[in-house]
Amino acid sequence: MAGTKRPPRKGESGPRERGPERPGRPARPRRSPRPGQRRPGRPRAEAAEAVASSPERLQKVISEAGLASRRGAERLIEEGRVTVNGQVVTQQGLKVDPAADKIKVDGRLIGPPQRMHYYMFNKPAGYLTTLADPRGRPTISIFLAQLPVRVFPVGRLDMDVEGLLILTNDGPLAKRLMHPSSQVPKTYRIKVSGRPSEEALAKLRDGSLMLGERPAAPAGAEMIKTAEDRSWILLTITEGRHHQVKRMCSAIGHPVLKLKRVAYAGLTLGTLHRDNIRPLTPQEIQVLKDACEV
Ligand code: URA
Repeated sequence: MAGTKRPPRKGESGPRERGPERPGRPARPRRSPRPGQRRPGRPRAEAAEAVASSPERLQKVISEAGLASRRGAERLIEEGRVTVNGQVVTQQGLKVDPAADKIKVDGRLIGPPQRMHYYMFNKPAGYLTTLADPRGRPTISIFLAQLPVRVFPVGRLDMDVEGLLILTNDGPLAKRLMHPSSQVPKTYRIKVSGRPSEEALAKLRDGSLMLGERPAAPAGAEMIKTAEDRSWILLTITEGRHHQVKRMCSAIGHPVLKLKRVAYAGLTLGTLHRDNIRPLTPQEIQVLKDACEV
């Protein structure tokens, strides 16, 4: 799976190889599949295939199995909770073969490592960020069905919001990216009604804006341009509260008219067209890991 795909158009038998980027808006899928149903097309690869393994540091194997962060794995080893082939190991950095060695944490066997997949998706508005909706509304699963592996979104964008969504089957990384303590930066290009004053923007920046019972953390807020009755703002937040950007903008008296996420955890949407998905490069995967110190 090397390229970006959009859902097949009517009359196409399956996903095409990605051609050169074309201007204009690619057609949207005509219908979303019913919940639990997959659009016909290329068969998916197994959800998670085992990878051929070679000797790895024990703490890396434990953290990649999703049991702990790298530091957490070191602690597990230090505390004598890890055995390799029946022997307690307290030494850091021991090289093990995850396919051949029997590694247990607190007596539970760690399975062989899985191949991880990471993609960037430019989600269009009009789709729920979920894999199935009991009410039958369109979901992003129609786009994900073209990928060779089963992945899930890291966090959510509202149905009417578009932009950058990370897709992966790396559960531990996704969990850390979404954890509030990671304070991963998320940047939105927002069209708001009216023209926010400098004081209003200062409220977004200084952490004094109340959202429910507690204030929103300080955000980066920059006016991009203004028109007669609307303005465009670039807002960077490090929290992920429910409808956070819409609530922040409403709280300063300038409701959101349109919202697009343009950056996430140091990655930017760049030229990725709406509806399209592309694999992350190894450098981009490292940027995500660095953002939450996995
Ligand atoms: N803030 C919102 O209000 N909605 C989103 O989808 C993301 C951030």
